[in-house]
Parts: sequence; C-alpha cells; structure tokens
Amino acid sequence: MEQKSVLIVEASARQDGSLSRMLASRFEHYWKQGRPHDAVVHRDVGKAPPAAINETWLAAAFTPAEHRSAEQERQLSLSDVLIAEVRDADIIVISTPMYNYGMPAALKAWVDQVVRINETFDFDLARGDFPLRPTLNGKCLVALTACGEFGFEQGGINEGSGHLVPHLQTVSKYLGVEQFIHVGIEFQEFKDARHDASIRHAVEMLERNVERLMQSLNACVQP
Ligand SMILES: Cc1cc2nc3c(=O)[nH]c(=O)nc-3n(C[C@H](O)[C@H](O)[C@H](O)COP(=O)(O)O)c2cc1C
Repeated sequence: MEQKSVLIVEASARQDGSLSRMLASRFEHYWKQGRPHDAVVHRDVGKAPPAAINETWLAAAFTPAEHRSAEQERQLSLSDVLIAEVRDADIIVISTPMYNYGMPAALKAWVDQVVRINETFDFDLARGDFPLRPTLNGKCLVALTACGEFGFEQGGINEGSGHLVPHLQTVSKYLGVEQFIHVGIEFQEFKDARHDASIRHAVEMLERNVERLMQSLNACVQP
C-alpha cells in the first residue's frame, strides 16, 4: 500500500468538550485503523494561532526569493513551515467551529500564511480575468465543522448566513484541493435531541466518508 500523508489542522479555541476536535479525533482513529502506515501531522492553530500577516510580511512575500534579506526570510519562516505541511499532505483535514458565522480568526490567519504568491499560487495577467492559478493539486480536503445554530445549507432556515463552509471551499483550491468533503455537527447551542441526532449522524457520515476515501485511494494505486 502506497504511504500517504494526512495533515490535521484543528482550530477550536477550546480543548475540552470541542465537537470539531472530537470529529478530528474520530477521523484519525478510523484512518489509522484502515491505513496504519500513513503519516499523520497535527497543526493546532486553536492552541497556537499563527500571527496575522502584516505589512512587513507582505513586503517579504512579494520580494523575489533571491532578493530577500535575512530579516524577510525570518518573517516568512512560519509560513514556509505551514506551506511545507500542506505541500506534503495528500489529505488535509480541517476541524473547525463556526465563530460569528465564519471561520475562527486563528484559522483565517493560517490560511493567510499558507496561500502565498509563487508558493501555492502564481499570478499572470496574461490569463485575463483569472490571473491566479493554484500551483498544488491532487489533494482531498475533509472539513469537520461544529456550529451552535443550524440550517445554513441551501433551503435551510439560515441559508445565506453561514460563511464557514463556502469560504473553506473557495480557498481550498489554493491548497491544491480537488476533492472536498464536509461533515458537520449543528444545534450545539440547543443541547436538545436534534443536537444528539446531529452528532450521531455526523459520526456515521464521517465513518462512511473515510471508508469511501480509503477505497478511492486503494483504487488509484491498483494497476
Ligand atoms: C466566539 C463564538 C462564536 C460563535 N459563533 C457562532 C455562530 O456565528 N453561529 C453558530 O451557529 N454558532 C456559533 N458559535 C457556537 C459554536 O460554533 C459551537 O459552540 C461549536 O460547537 C464550537 O466548536 P467546538 O465544539 O469545536 O469548540 C460560536 C461560539 C463561540 C465560542
């Protein structure tokens, strides 16, 4: 079996009782059962949020690599590490809560550190109205989410208010993602039977999706 790499990015600000972390831990458990030899790398941005990018970071990122000063290289050193983790991953798992109808600031800071010119995308106005092009490819993103309310999907009672999954889906192309899977828990703030059912459903969907994903990986390497 060809060895694959899994990167698990966790974004909840809480360690105890976090539902998105519970889903990530279930994912890892199922994955290791089926593919015990794959590499699994953890990046906990909830516990250690990356710095928000600033003017000096931007200047460094837009300076050609061969002209960067030692200080500019230092400015980009965390970004280099985070990009290398993404580049090495075949499967990226992002486990995240919904905060204020979008992603937590810590996860957005990670995205801003990772999606970087001439590293994960290049830019050429010769391409007309679509000058950005991702430079990575072939990855699968598994988004594991938790939210307090519910019904953010098409036709749901909060349709149009949930920006977490659509945002992840949009930026995922600059992580080289070609397959996007979402499993989410809702109703956390209601703590009622609907919440319990949502947890059960998510865990079931997660197990099913992991199985399917592993089958497709196995199918890819068969002659
Ligand atoms: C700061 C903060 C903001 C939140 N904003 C939203 C929100 O906009 N919509 C929502 O449905 N739930 C919201 N919630 C509820 C969380 O999404 C929910 O508690 C979720 O389970 C948190 O993820 P975790 O269990 O992995 O920590 C918010 C919670 C916190 C702490």
